[in-house]
Amino acid sequence: MTGNNLAIIILAAGQGTRMRSRLPKVLHPIAGRPLVGHVLTTAGRLGAEHVEVVVRHERDQVVAALTADYPDAIFIDQDEVPGTGRAVQVAVDALPAEFDGDVLVLSGDCPLADADTLRSFLDAHRDADAEATLMTAVVDDPTGYGRVIRDADGGVDRIVEQKDASADEASVREINAGMYVFRIGTLRRYLPSVGVDNAQGEMYLTDVPGLLRRDGSRVAASVVSDVTVTFGVNDRAQLSEVGRLLNRRIVRRWQLAGVTIIDPTTTWIDDDATLAPDVTVLPNTHILRATTIAEGAIIGPDTTLVDCEVGADAIVRRTDATLAVIGAEATVGPFSFLRPGTVLGARGKIGAYVETKNAEIGEGSKVPHLSYVGDATIGRGVNLGASTITANYDDVNKHRTVVEDEVHTGSHTTLVAPVRLGAGAKTGAGAVVRKDVPAGSLAMSVAPQRNIEGWVEKNRAGTGAADAAARSRVAE
Ligand code: UD1
Ligand code: CA
Repeated sequence: MTGNNLAIIILAAGQGTRMRSRLPKVLHPIAGRPLVGHVLTTAGRLGAEHVEVVVRHERDQVVAALTADYPDAIFIDQDEVPGTGRAVQVAVDALPAEFDGDVLVLSGDCPLADADTLRSFLDAHRDADAEATLMTAVVDDPTGYGRVIRDADGGVDRIVEQKDASADEASVREINAGMYVFRIGTLRRYLPSVGVDNAQGEMYLTDVPGLLRRDGSRVAASVVSDVTVTFGVNDRAQLSEVGRLLNRRIVRRWQLAGVTIIDPTTTWIDDDATLAPDVTVLPNTHILRATTIAEGAIIGPDTTLVDCEVGADAIVRRTDATLAVIGAEATVGPFSFLRPGTVLGARGKIGAYVETKNAEIGEGSKVPHLSYVGDATIGRGVNLGASTITANYDDVNKHRTVVEDEVHTGSHTTLVAPVRLGAGAKTGAGAVVRKDVPAGSLAMSVAPQRNIEGWVEKNRAGTGAADAAARSRVAE
């Protein structure tokens, strides 16, 4: 059961000292979203009545990073009293007085607890009919976590923070995952009695279970079997580990949905990306942000796509692309650089060592080799010869190049924008096109070639070139 009578409090006020970062810990991204964004996304799936995020350290930065994506979240400011207990207290105080349900407390630095895990956790709490339920896990290395101390009957007695633990307590391998469900009345009653008499001088939320037990109330524990859902991020080693686990989960989700992913360890897919069945992803490929890839496309190896849209059966290899649209059956790469605003039509081609920006390239048009195409509109069936370049920038303004349908440019054509090439026009090799070319015309701008016979032997006597020229003359 979820939804009604549920409030979720996400703790995100801490500094995250162990990250040694100017970026607040909860804003460090994995899978294309800040750590706390993953927690908010999951919270959104539980349909709670209230979702509160407690902030303090760099609060403006944290709020600014989240408000657009999570408009329903309410940000609560923690005061100068430190500790997770105080964080929950200010959030509880901000809930409407008439709220009378359960409170799920989550940490902004624990992004791996998915909605299914949390739903079962809430169910376990309601089945146990307890005042509070902790999520716990038995781990090989409990370093850094609060330890769950059980009484003689096996019930939860209290939580001891690592810094306050005796050697015996520290050897306990059942850890507090930092996720809890409390009845709201319990928090209202017990948080005021939580002190700061501990190694860190903070109000520990983890004191509440011990206080409850002393009053004879029931505290339940829900032990998760997949310990990874409890993993938190306190330093950058854990950041990469948790990021890797989340990526594994995302990769597996797409594999089960029909995507071939050759090498999960070198394939990175952000949570917002979408891949259709029968897409193939080759090694060392990054599919980032809101990229979408249609059926049958082959991506990689060595490719990074950021916010791109790739059409069905397109082939994109060894490419770096951002905010680009690649049409169905188009081919891109190897070694192509597609900058924002690139739109490649169906069956088009952007080939080796080609850079594009803010360029629409029509259906079936090809830019096969060594080109720069920027601020351009290219029609259908166009072929830009090797090393055709748009000179779009005059040091002050950017100008547009328009190339109409079926134009073919000669190798090394320079299109000095603003300029327009009419339908079916052609340019000679090396042309520098400064004036519009009418439809169907051939534009030449290079002076006729002149051969000065004997120049090498006369002016470069004794060189290999002169000797070779002499030999070739004798042979004739
Ligand atoms: C906390 C628990 C520990 C548990 C671990 C699980 C306490 C006292 N300890 O330890 O038992 O095993 O999580 O990951 O709760 N925060 C605030 N305000 C504060 C302090 C922290 O909002 O004043 C937030 C942090 O931003 C963070 C979360 O609370 O998102 C946990 O704080 P952190 O300092 O990481 O606690 P741990 O030492 O990991
Ligand atoms: Ca933590």
